[in-house]
Amino acid sequence: MPGSTITPDRCRSVIHWRVLPPSSRAHKHKLPPFLMETYKRPRLVMPDSVEKNKKIKTIIDSLRLSNDQVKLVMSTLQAEMTLGLSKDKKKRDSSCLPMENTYVRSLMDGTEEGDFLALDLGGTNFRVLLVKIHDGKCESYQQNYNVPNDKLNGSSSELFDHLAWGIASFLEKEGLKEKNLPMGFTFSFPLIQKSLSSGLLSMWTKGFKCTDGPGLDVVRLLNEAIARRGDIQVDTVAVLNDTTGTLMAGAYLDHHCQVAMILGTGHNACYMEHLEKVEKWEGEKDEPMGVAINMESGALGDNGCTDFIKTEFDIAVDKLSHHVGTNTFEKLFSGMYMGEVARQVLIKLTQEGLILDGRGSPELFTPWSFLTKYISMIESDGSGVFENTMDVMAELDVEDFVKEEDLSVIKYVCSCVSLRAATLIAAEIAVLIQHIDQSEVTIAVDGSLYKYHPKLHDLVLDKVHTLVPNVKCKLILAEDGSGKGAAFVAAVATRLSRAAKEARRDSDGDVKDENKHSEKLPSSPTAETVNSEKQDGESNKVDSPGKSPKSDNETENSLDLEATFQPLKSQPSLDMALALQGIPLKVS
Ligand code: BGC
Repeated sequence: MPGSTITPDRCRSVIHWRVLPPSSRAHKHKLPPFLMETYKRPRLVMPDSVEKNKKIKTIIDSLRLSNDQVKLVMSTLQAEMTLGLSKDKKKRDSSCLPMENTYVRSLMDGTEEGDFLALDLGGTNFRVLLVKIHDGKCESYQQNYNVPNDKLNGSSSELFDHLAWGIASFLEKEGLKEKNLPMGFTFSFPLIQKSLSSGLLSMWTKGFKCTDGPGLDVVRLLNEAIARRGDIQVDTVAVLNDTTGTLMAGAYLDHHCQVAMILGTGHNACYMEHLEKVEKWEGEKDEPMGVAINMESGALGDNGCTDFIKTEFDIAVDKLSHHVGTNTFEKLFSGMYMGEVARQVLIKLTQEGLILDGRGSPELFTPWSFLTKYISMIESDGSGVFENTMDVMAELDVEDFVKEEDLSVIKYVCSCVSLRAATLIAAEIAVLIQHIDQSEVTIAVDGSLYKYHPKLHDLVLDKVHTLVPNVKCKLILAEDGSGKGAAFVAAVATRLSRAAKEARRDSDGDVKDENKHSEKLPSSPTAETVNSEKQDGESNKVDSPGKSPKSDNETENSLDLEATFQPLKSQPSLDMALALQGIPLKVS
């Protein structure tokens, strides 16, 4: 059995969510203003060493962002977004932001029913979920699995075999091996989506360095791995990015949610865009007039447009990273890199003889040894308290000689790195708020950095309020949104496909010949791609050993998907879930 499970019983959780709850589960922090001031203005207090103080501050100063720099980051981001959405290929190619069409145009309307699977791959764990939506209630069962190192660096088929193994082990455990449930697949890497159920990997990011993958359709890779096993049947009806899943989950929690963000190992954002602003849109501009755009905002700066905020520490982190020269914005603050940024600063301070007796320790000098969770731990120590900080010092093997003033400096470094992170995140949120131009916006956030950093939520929100003071903005934690959101997308796809089928039945009298109906769909590159991808996928499934040919049910799902995301003109009301959900899209 490949890989190992992570304490299965503890990870298996049952979460009850109400469908369309009236209010969001806001992140709860209520900070007294004086404390907020200390968060916003980290201070280094070393009364006996004014000179040293000055030297330290000079080194760390490059991490501070001036108001002008923040404004420039904002205007740069907006410009790159516009280029990324442009009709003109040259302009699009000049942007560092792919601004990908996700093919998700409808959010949940509360009428979804059934059992759905989700597969969520993004970090060194992956999850399989069963989400049951019945009678207006939603329950989810999930199991986490490890992605061992050899799978991060091996071939893509080895990785996908491992994912298929996880799905099979989950289905076995839940007694679902004989079923063929619709599944949403959250794949948290840059994808060029060809349809809701197919997407080509652009490149690996974060800690993944498989020997192949870019250019391949990840749903096909998954289907092939499942077929190789031959012991399970899963109908992957949707592939999505984790931000899209989080947007879906966020909209479920709060109907003002139109933006989602991942602040975890990696970083990215997604938002509901009006079709009129998606110049590169090739399909019909029909209802609903919105589409979720996966920005891949972690790539901001990959074309050099944000070099003006890059510090020597960021350059060093990039050099050490798996994918040099890419995901520039993500590397400034996401969970995989933020600790390393702090370590680079600490190394410089040590080498200049300003902390840790100028000697440090082999641990400190080991790349990636300063985990981002250490920043969260240190930031949790109150003023003048060094309890967690000392625990971190023990991890770095410097606890025997670290001085109290070193502790102050280390804490100060972590505060400055955190403050820069919060400022950049807030700048991005402010741009998105301005862009969608609503008076009230909720941002759904998922990811370990956001969940565990004790100050990030407050710092981000405070800065957003300063940057866009006239908009009511809320950040909510859409916990496990990336996983549940995949099941929600599968649920919406299934609902809409059923509705489309019924509509066809009504208009044509019968549905004897499904292929005939699919020919009637508006011809578009999307519909064609779906057809060809599906055919390939099907032949693989049927050929696989020990696997029965597709059931009628499976055929029904594949065909219906086209209708789902290319709705028939004669059935405009089918796809009005956005409107039902009460999401006002500004029509320009
Ligand atoms: C990936 C994105 C993903 C983000 C958060 C980035 O490295 O490129 O696709 O959404 O991490 O997981």
